[in-house]
Amino acid sequence: MNPEPLQALLTRYSVGPKHLVEPGPSDEQLALMAQAALRAPDHAELVPYRFKLVRGAAKQGMAALFADAARAAGKDEEGAALDAERALKPPMTVAVVARIDLGHPQVPAHEQWAAVGGAIANFLTAAHALGFGGKMLSGAKVRNPAIAAAFCEPGETLVGWIALGTPARRPTGPARKPAADQVLVEWTGAC
Ligand SMILES: Cc1cc2nc3c(=O)[nH]c(=O)nc-3n(C[C@H](O)[C@H](O)[C@H](O)COP(=O)(O)O)c2cc1C
Repeated sequence: MNPEPLQALLTRYSVGPKHLVEPGPSDEQLALMAQAALRAPDHAELVPYRFKLVRGAAKQGMAALFADAARAAGKDEEGAALDAERALKPPMTVAVVARIDLGHPQVPAHEQWAAVGGAIANFLTAAHALGFGGKMLSGAKVRNPAIAAAFCEPGETLVGWIALGTPARRPTGPARKPAADQVLVEWTGAC
């Protein structure tokens, strides 16, 4: 009974980097994901985000940054290699960078963050609708100064990375999501 366009929304799930294989999306498919992201609600059309593509040789650069960040966090060489692998394993990665204007006269920061979240969700749903798998990831790495400087202009925030590729397998069970009635509640405050 679900109208066709809702299917991608109702069936989207995250696929982690270790289950992503080649091929990654083409430039045309990435453009569709960006167009979907741009359909997210965005007060005053500030577009407070950028998606930065990490693929090909750039993956090695990101892997080196991840390994250095792991060492700086006190991990041994095995741990550093594991973190580097997180950059190398997915066919591609899309860094998500937020540009929040804290002094905007009309749009407070929380509304701009809502636009960033909507964009990420739409990007991931478009990837799923096109047959790709993806997962939004962050962790302490986003606050590593060298990594943040490599991805961000001054004043920007590194939100994290979307690992993207072809899902090697489907998830083993249904998504553990609450029933709709847990988030859909009547407001009776004025009665
Ligand atoms: C900004 C952001 C950062 C996230 N960072 C991580 C992360 O570092 N590690 C992780 O396992 N999940 C992280 N998640 C959650 C996953 O991307 C995913 O949404 C979650 O595992 C639920 O799976 P689902 O998307 O299939 O419902 C993050 C989500 C968001 C929105």
